[in-house]
Amino acid sequence: MFRKLLLSTLAVLSLGSAPALAAGEGGHVHDYAFSFEGPFGTYDRAQLQRGLQVYNEVCSACHGLNMVAFRSLAAETGPAIEADTLRAFAAEHEVEDGEGGYRSAELTDFFPGSSLENAPDLSLMAKARAGFHGPYGLGINQLIHGMGGPEYIASFLTGFTGEETEMAGALFYENEAFGGNVSMPPVLVEDLVEYSDGTPATEEQMAQDVAAFLMWAAEPHLPQRKMWGFIGVLFLAMLASLLYLTNKRLWAPIKNQAKQG
Ligand code: HEC
Repeated sequence: MFRKLLLSTLAVLSLGSAPALAAGEGGHVHDYAFSFEGPFGTYDRAQLQRGLQVYNEVCSACHGLNMVAFRSLAAETGPAIEADTLRAFAAEHEVEDGEGGYRSAELTDFFPGSSLENAPDLSLMAKARAGFHGPYGLGINQLIHGMGGPEYIASFLTGFTGEETEMAGALFYENEAFGGNVSMPPVLVEDLVEYSDGTPATEEQMAQDVAAFLMWAAEPHLPQRKMWGFIGVLFLAMLASLLYLTNKRLWAPIKNQAKQG
């Protein structure tokens, strides 16, 4: 019985992975080790603050973040920006005032949307992209490495080959993680931003920092969710052992009877 099960499982696995190798899905995505991975991973506050800086000084020139409210940047498990700094930060941004004009943003406002029409909003980008693909939906890769949204973003930002192509009057840039030509130009160059915590602003560093920040933006409650998951598993384990003992006890007289008879 067991052998049969094992054989059929192996058969399914090999059926699934064979065509995947041939298809060569997507581009190359590097498996970064982010602090928020694993069952107990949490966000690295300093990294989120650096990522916010990169987003604000570089990406926001084209991209928006219109599902993230300024006040959420105060979150203890997130960037944890202090109230006064945050108020000043929000005020640097302009939002529509509802009467056709603009006013400076307050804590309750959301980040502005994309200013460049074809640049997608980045609020949910870390959840919208999968860096790792399972062989035809089996999800083995995702099970081991995760979905790879932030890994994809960091690989995408560092994946430009320098190759440019002109198509229909527009420039396209070859990108290894994207797996082809993309209309976003390479934006990160060393020392593009100056980090206040003294971290050297290499291309890799900025890419990982902004990817971590975008993961937080898309999933701000990740640490809490992990904690509740752990409590849930603990609770179920306790419940299971109690049920096992109860079951044993309930059937004990009948089992004894059977032995005697
Ligand atoms: C000069 C404008 C510009 C800047 C600056 C810029 N982007 Fe983009 N970005 C674009 C455009 C345009 C696209 C759409 C590309 C396409 O679909 O061909 C894009 C697409 C993307 C995508 C989606 C790629 C995909 O898989 O579809 C990500 C992720 C991204 N940008 C992240 C960033 C980050 C992070 C930064 C800051 C470090 C940034 N971008 C800075 C213009 C920009």
